[in-house]
Amino acid sequence: MADRLYIFDTTLRDGEQVPGCQLNTVEKIEVARALESMGVDIIEAGFPVSSPGDFNSVVEISKAVTWPTICALTRAVPRDIEVAAEALRFAKRGRIHTGIGTSDSHIRYKFNSNRDEIIERAVAAVKYAKKFVEDVQFYAEDAGRTDNEYLARVIEAVIKAGATTVNIPDTTGYCLPDEFGRKIRFLKENVSNIDKAIIATHCHNDLGLATANTVAGIMNGARQAEVTINGIGERAGNTSLEEVAMIMKCHHDLNIETNINTKKIYSISRTVSNLMNMPVQPNKAIVGRNAFAHSSGIHQDGVLKNRESYEIIDPKDVGIDENSIVLTARSGRAALKHRLEVHNVHLEQDALDAVYDKFLKLADSKKDINDDDILMLAGKDRIANARIKLDYLQVSSGVGIKSVASVGLDIAGEKFEAAASGNGPVDASIKAVKQIIHRTMTVKEFLIQAITKGSDDIGKVHMQVEHGGHIYYGFGANTDIVAASIEAYIDAINKFAEQ
Ligand code: KIV
Ligand code: ZN
Repeated sequence: MADRLYIFDTTLRDGEQVPGCQLNTVEKIEVARALESMGVDIIEAGFPVSSPGDFNSVVEISKAVTWPTICALTRAVPRDIEVAAEALRFAKRGRIHTGIGTSDSHIRYKFNSNRDEIIERAVAAVKYAKKFVEDVQFYAEDAGRTDNEYLARVIEAVIKAGATTVNIPDTTGYCLPDEFGRKIRFLKENVSNIDKAIIATHCHNDLGLATANTVAGIMNGARQAEVTINGIGERAGNTSLEEVAMIMKCHHDLNIETNINTKKIYSISRTVSNLMNMPVQPNKAIVGRNAFAHSSGIHQDGVLKNRESYEIIDPKDVGIDENSIVLTARSGRAALKHRLEVHNVHLEQDALDAVYDKFLKLADSKKDINDDDILMLAGKDRIANARIKLDYLQVSSGVGIKSVASVGLDIAGEKFEAAASGNGPVDASIKAVKQIIHRTMTVKEFLIQAITKGSDDIGKVHMQVEHGGHIYYGFGANTDIVAASIEAYIDAINKFAEQ
């Protein structure tokens, strides 16, 4: 019989730590429900002591979700543990995830402490968490760079104190797969009570090795993988859920299975990308736009003769169904509602009517409306409720002439207008907006991405704007990319203008 690998999703905790990708509680519940429907075993819902928003999200996700375990993160600090326990009070199955740094660098510089004292603090935290919940997970932060002998001492002590899962994070993404695999094997062989706990991997992708390290850990005895959708997370991100799930599915030789319904992968990948305004790189394994696109003649010929010649995964196994691109100007509300519900977006009648109106407008300028388009339309309500809105935009530009833009803004119901010239239509439009909003702000990052293919496609724009030493993220989507750019710029401004 195959061994079971538990999937612990931390999209809503480690994933959400990415600056600019924060979700509100309603959005987090949407992601949590999607994770539940795809079969995730444990959902890390937040770090309750870190903010009232995180606390509230853990409370509400605990109520909204039925069978996955809901996990709350803490430091090895009594107050953190009390707050986490309080946030988990509605969870049908609640887990406290407590821990402390164990590498020499963490012990010396972060805690100004010593190895024995760190073990005492780790044990005390686990014992205290046990007073509130039975299910306690311990993390040894920076375990990737922790001396194995010492790590084994820590792990043995926390299991003795009651930890039932022991998490071995490669916090800095430093390890090589062989090294990480040996670390897990070392713990299996040298921690006398290891059979009383499940070993978890938690790998970061700084060297592009997160998935490889996770698989090496699993091959050496870990039975819980900590992952995020699309591999999102701070810096280069975390191990991606879809990669681990598909590796276990493709490699029967490993004889390890997960509870993941892989047919839900594509849909949840898009939901997370849309809600977090975080584009998926086109060549991302499993969920990237090009993951199943064969462009070379030799490959196309081979795939047409027999798909398996060049494809190890049937796109349908991850929920990519080419037939899903079906909506046109003649599609009715019911078809729109159905496609949104396939992606776990459930709208009340009023909201559906509003999205349907936007859908018809879009269908005037774009022949085929795909799932990404309608998800984007469903998410646009945020812009409709913003304080600063784009009223109109008129641009004249071309080759050999200076671009000129006129912009109208609606700021809390009051109308403002300005015109400016620039070295391109976006530059001219931004200068016009700046004449109305008198703040010092600089565009730091500007990314335009087409959602699918044709020239009538929607352009998605992600922008980072610096103001007062902070970076604010903005998003815009429009068939007109200059308009999308200005929408993104205004979206970013709204984030600090509201403060
Ligand atoms: O990367 C890490 O070490 C973490 C821990 C808090 C689990 O995210
Ligand atoms: Zn992490």
